[in-house]
Amino acid sequence: MLKGKKIILGITGSIAAYKAAYLTRALIKKGAEVQIVITPAGKEFITPVTLSALTGKPVVSEFFSANDGTWHSHVDLGLWADLLLIAPATASTIGKMANGIADNMLITTYLSAKAPVFIAPAMDLDMFAHPSTQHNLELLRSYGNHIIEPATGELASHLEGKGRMEEPDRIVERIEAFFASRQSLRGRKIVITAGPTYEKIDPVRFIGNYSSGKMGFSLARVCAERGADVVLIAGPVTLPTPHASIKRIDVESADEMYRAAMEAYPTADAAICCAAVADYAPAEYRSTKMKRNADDLTLVLRPNKDIAAELGKIKRAGQCLAGFALETDHEAENAVAKMQRKNFDFIVLNSLRDAGAGFRGDTNKVSIWYRDGRSADYPVKSKLEVASDIVDALTACLGGE
Ligand code: CTP
Repeated sequence: MLKGKKIILGITGSIAAYKAAYLTRALIKKGAEVQIVITPAGKEFITPVTLSALTGKPVVSEFFSANDGTWHSHVDLGLWADLLLIAPATASTIGKMANGIADNMLITTYLSAKAPVFIAPAMDLDMFAHPSTQHNLELLRSYGNHIIEPATGELASHLEGKGRMEEPDRIVERIEAFFASRQSLRGRKIVITAGPTYEKIDPVRFIGNYSSGKMGFSLARVCAERGADVVLIAGPVTLPTPHASIKRIDVESADEMYRAAMEAYPTADAAICCAAVADYAPAEYRSTKMKRNADDLTLVLRPNKDIAAELGKIKRAGQCLAGFALETDHEAENAVAKMQRKNFDFIVLNSLRDAGAGFRGDTNKVSIWYRDGRSADYPVKSKLEVASDIVDALTACLGGE
């Protein structure tokens, strides 16, 4: 899986930097091409000579080469990489990455890299547990970075706790698994509905909802990263298309979303209905702005098509269909009934009662319920990580791993 992969290994000033030599060797043995970018503090812990002997390339640390003043382009480096791995990552580097403080070669490379980023923190237990470190890690997760959680054990301070950098072999396994998963949906067409819908009342007013589209866009990104051809049918959102290969269809109303979904699904392998579709639309659209007057106002609303249920009706053998449920009471019972009613293969339940779950935030907390009665609960995670869990379920539904 790592054969020919271009990996930047960022090393920062932690005692765990001594393990970076072994990590470099392990990546190279698997066929990866490794470029080391080390911070000035990192060099206090491991010598660049050791690292360049292992990679066969000069180690990059400063913006300019000490030998001849050549400028090292962090932009070129960032674009060269298939993956950026920062191991060990200190609290300071994590804080700078989270806040865009680009005062060394590693952080500037990180900011200009387009490749997936893996971060393996290493620090003392209290530093790791500190709210600022945890907040910064949360920010980094919300930007789509992958955090390789530190292990619990004896630390350099001789204290026991969580903060040891994950073992190099485990880190390599994580990265191999990541590249492996990128192939798992190759050749599959996946339709995703995302965001809210707006139902027009008059030229200046509509009925809408608070959906941000972040969950659906994260799903689209993960499917595309795993090689799928994604058709993203997006209601009115302000999000950029999360992957260059995605075919995005912007719609406004539930009816437009319905038509786009019905056209795309017959040739697709799967659909995920993630949109918060308005259940009703004004029966009448007024072409001129409604005027205020002293009387009560009654708007007549007509039910919209249930897009998910309509897809469920035309679902063929071998196709998968998944949907969401946002419930406030009898959550599991309602979600399972919804799954059956709409002919979903599985349903993702987020409860409005759970802290960290819901519409506008960057995190979500879900459980997945299957047709055969199985269910799985997940902790609060970034929407990107939640998307990854859901896409795992979809891949299994399509008969993959
Ligand atoms: N959905 C859809 N089209 C609709 C309404 C909902 O495709 N017109 C999809 C959503 O994308 C989601 C699932 O159906 O995957 C559940 O949506 P939800 O609003 O919870 O369900 P409703 O059918 O509206 O049920 P209720 O509001 O009664 O709970």
